[in-house]
Amino acid sequence: MSLHPNTQAVRIQTERTNEKEHSTPLFITSSFCFDDAEEMRAAFAEENDNNIYSRFSNPTVQEFIDKMCALEGAEAGFATASGMSAIFGTFMAFLNSGDHLLSCSSVFGSTHTIITKYFKRWKIEYSYADIKKPEEWEALIRPNTKMIYVETPTNPGLDMVDMEWLGQLSKKHNIILVVDNCFATPVLQKPVQFGADLVLHSATKWLDGQGRVLGGIVVGKEQLIRELYLFCRNTGPSLSPFNAWVLTKSLETLDVRIQRHCDNAEALVKALEGHPKINWIKYPFHPSHPMYAIAKKQMIRGGGLVTFDLKGGLESGKKFMDALRMLSLTSNLGDSRSIASHPASTTHSKLTGQEQLEVGITPGLIRISVGLEYSGDIVNDILQALEQS
Ligand SMILES: Cc1ncc(COP(=O)(O)O)c(C=O)c1O
Repeated sequence: MSLHPNTQAVRIQTERTNEKEHSTPLFITSSFCFDDAEEMRAAFAEENDNNIYSRFSNPTVQEFIDKMCALEGAEAGFATASGMSAIFGTFMAFLNSGDHLLSCSSVFGSTHTIITKYFKRWKIEYSYADIKKPEEWEALIRPNTKMIYVETPTNPGLDMVDMEWLGQLSKKHNIILVVDNCFATPVLQKPVQFGADLVLHSATKWLDGQGRVLGGIVVGKEQLIRELYLFCRNTGPSLSPFNAWVLTKSLETLDVRIQRHCDNAEALVKALEGHPKINWIKYPFHPSHPMYAIAKKQMIRGGGLVTFDLKGGLESGKKFMDALRMLSLTSNLGDSRSIASHPASTTHSKLTGQEQLEVGITPGLIRISVGLEYSGDIVNDILQALEQS
């Protein structure tokens, strides 16, 4: 019987043990035993599928990977300790000295730091394309371009790349296409369908959904994942089985949670439309979004993140944050609890004004990660804080 990916996210489970447990067990062990020397030899020679050591593989971690492969429509995967280790592991597994990466400046801050600060240590070249000017991307491809790396929607700009177009471009030039699908999750968008070779996530965000654990995952073409696996099993960014257990349980509710996050985000957008204290609202499924057509083409719904720009700029941003009574001031997103952040005074405060604008950050930009509380309470807290901003 072929099951829908959302059903598989609920039902995939490690083989039931002799205890006949219903909920999935947690294999919290560093290593695994062998009955004899021959079985052990065969495991090391990869002649059987036995687990050896949890840096290489672990049944609880594998269950999380299998569910993510089902959700993303991917052949294989490898899970990592954080989103950044998924990203760094992917760069290091595939990029050699002399290779070139094409990306855009509106990637997550730590990804940007790896590319701009550390790549030169290994003589890896990069170019940033403008996410708003796709017509300029092809000219930036060089003979040594090995990888195209994008985030869509971006953090915190909420800009999007047309993945169908990018899939065709990377195929034409035989380049590995990597998509960070953290903001949309596979419930709303499946980059593999559009030609992505590898899709990665910070599982810390919507996949966990309750702000408990750090985690990451890369899924995609089997042959590429095999290369990534061999690199990671030696270099050690593997996901802890405990965190994998939390994440695999979280995936059972991913679809319902994401639908509710979207419901609440839509209610917020509606309540903020035309508000006198804000210049604009940005939400992928709002017709005023400059990339609305792309969002409609490749996403099922608009997601749980909403941004808006306060007319009063930097000072209003700080006042707004101080006036919030329920929303959390914390540097995470994708939680059941709604979170507000003010990038210009926090995460992006070290950038110049011009650099902030280039990645879509205005002094008065507020990012809301819309949670699962009753939508009226989220809206009311934001409206009362706007009055005081
Ligand atoms: C889009 C995106 N990618 C990657 C990361 C990094 O993930 P982690 O914090 O799990 O290392 C984040 C974290 O905020 C993110 O928002």
